[in-house]
Amino acid sequence: MIRLFESLPSAAAQRLPSLASGPGSQREGFEKPRVEPPWLSAVPSVDAAVSPELRLVSCPSAPPAQMESFRLLAHRMESLRRDQGANRLIVTSAVPGDGKTFVASNLAVTLARQAGAVLLVDGDVRGAHLEQALGVPRQSGLAEVLRGDITLSQALRKVSPHGVFLLGAGDMDPHTPDLLAGPRFVDFLRELKDVFRWIILDSPPLLPVVDALAMTKAADAALLIARRDHTPRSAIDGALRLLRSHPIAGVVLNDAEDRSASSYYAYRSYPNRPPHTATESEEK
Ligand SMILES: Nc1ncnc2c1ncn2[C@@H]1O[C@H](COP(=O)(O)OP(=O)(O)O)[C@@H](O)[C@H]1O
Ligand SMILES: [Mg+2]
Repeated sequence: MIRLFESLPSAAAQRLPSLASGPGSQREGFEKPRVEPPWLSAVPSVDAAVSPELRLVSCPSAPPAQMESFRLLAHRMESLRRDQGANRLIVTSAVPGDGKTFVASNLAVTLARQAGAVLLVDGDVRGAHLEQALGVPRQSGLAEVLRGDITLSQALRKVSPHGVFLLGAGDMDPHTPDLLAGPRFVDFLRELKDVFRWIILDSPPLLPVVDALAMTKAADAALLIARRDHTPRSAIDGALRLLRSHPIAGVVLNDAEDRSASSYYAYRSYPNRPPHTATESEEK
């Protein structure tokens, strides 16, 4: 019995309406209740002195705790795929620097090692960092494909030794944000759904970028990243409120010093093991 994905979406669904700005609570002057986010897993801090491309789990010197955390996250995503047919995942967060690109690239590499064809798409056309994170040069990508300037096969690269197929952001023009937020991008990812086992979409931050939310409808589920000592709790609440009508796979606590994470005020109730999650052995 898979506890995680039976309980999590419904738990999230039950909780999110109480985050919505209901007219009653505002008028009566009650403070909106803070609801515990649907924590899914934690990803540890990696030595900040190493370059972005060496912060990948495929790097031989990657810390075992980092590899283990991404193996567990990949395992949970595979459960989501198996149980709900979800294989287009948008990695999103409230503000810049939360670790979307870090989590998207490491999750994609881990899934590619375990499960075959994985497409990693850089949907953050304004702040594209995926190519840097994977240590490959910038080239034409999503922006040009959506404009019809080049074909997908011209833009796609298989990145070794990581084994993922990469579609970089490319060079945006003034129309690119509208294309990403509109039906063309939805159709594009729909056509690719059966081509790849996984499509992992790196994305812009939800709160400052107006069109970031619209991109989520091209994905089956959203993985929300929150970073310890970086993401304000109010920003997590705001992001969850924005995502309330989208399926949420869960919230990943990034840069967690340890799995208890109990010292941080915003995550005071984050227990040794996140709620609604099962260990790998329980899930089997
Ligand atoms: N757990 C972590 N440990 C160490 N460095 C991290 C971690 N998560 C993110 N970083 C680093 O922090 C910076 C911002 O992360 P990034 O993934 O680019 O954020 P975002 O895509 O949300 O803007 C990058 O240099 C990234 O490598
Ligand atoms: Mg990024």
